[in-house]
Amino acid sequence: MHPDIERILFTAEQIAERTRALGRRIAEDLAAGCEKGAASGKQAAPPAQNAAAQGGAPASAPPLAVCILKGSVPFFADLIRAIPLPLETEYIALSSYGAGTASSGQVHIGKDIAADVAGRDVLIVEDIVDSGRTLAFLCGHLAARHPRSVRVVTLLDKPSRRAVPFTPDYVGFAVDDVFVVGCGMDYAERYRNLPYIGVLKPSVYGG
Ligand code: PRP
Repeated sequence: MHPDIERILFTAEQIAERTRALGRRIAEDLAAGCEKGAASGKQAAPPAQNAAAQGGAPASAPPLAVCILKGSVPFFADLIRAIPLPLETEYIALSSYGAGTASSGQVHIGKDIAADVAGRDVLIVEDIVDSGRTLAFLCGHLAARHPRSVRVVTLLDKPSRRAVPFTPDYVGFAVDDVFVVGCGMDYAERYRNLPYIGVLKPSVYGG
């Protein structure tokens, strides 16, 4: 174990097993064609019935998996390989600006996705939901482009930290309000490559 880690929350094996289970479940839902995101009111616009006629993606366009940079990269890479369906992938860079360590609550797009989402099933892949601001923003941003459905899967969820209402469709693990790193998650850009998810020692970040 890395010396900066207080304890391991989830081992690489536990993460891999949970990711495979999430992949199976998501694949079933996508294959069934259920409009989970739209039905649950997750900011998805009404299905674009004639997306192709409207200049959107053809009806046969495969689901689009969207990776939120940077933290989601390892989970995204494993999850898409656990979904045995045709998929396309996209990457979006988002950031929150604010004074000091506090988020302003405003999310900015550093790099947007290029693909046309109209009429398509979209799967947003996130590493962690904390305040909920990032995903509330992104769901609204994508809904404006008239997807058929929007689903959100997150490896970790910290429901006790919500500042805005947001409920992911699929959750790997719910965690308490502890400082987690590893499997994509960082402190000052470090620890993303740890194969497990651990709690960072408070002495490292002055907590
Ligand atoms: C983290 C994480 C989520 C977001 C969640 O990203 O990857 O995208 O914060 O926080 P929220 O629910 O409070 O919006 P971060 O801004 O640290 O960027 P990174 O993924 O590049 O580390």
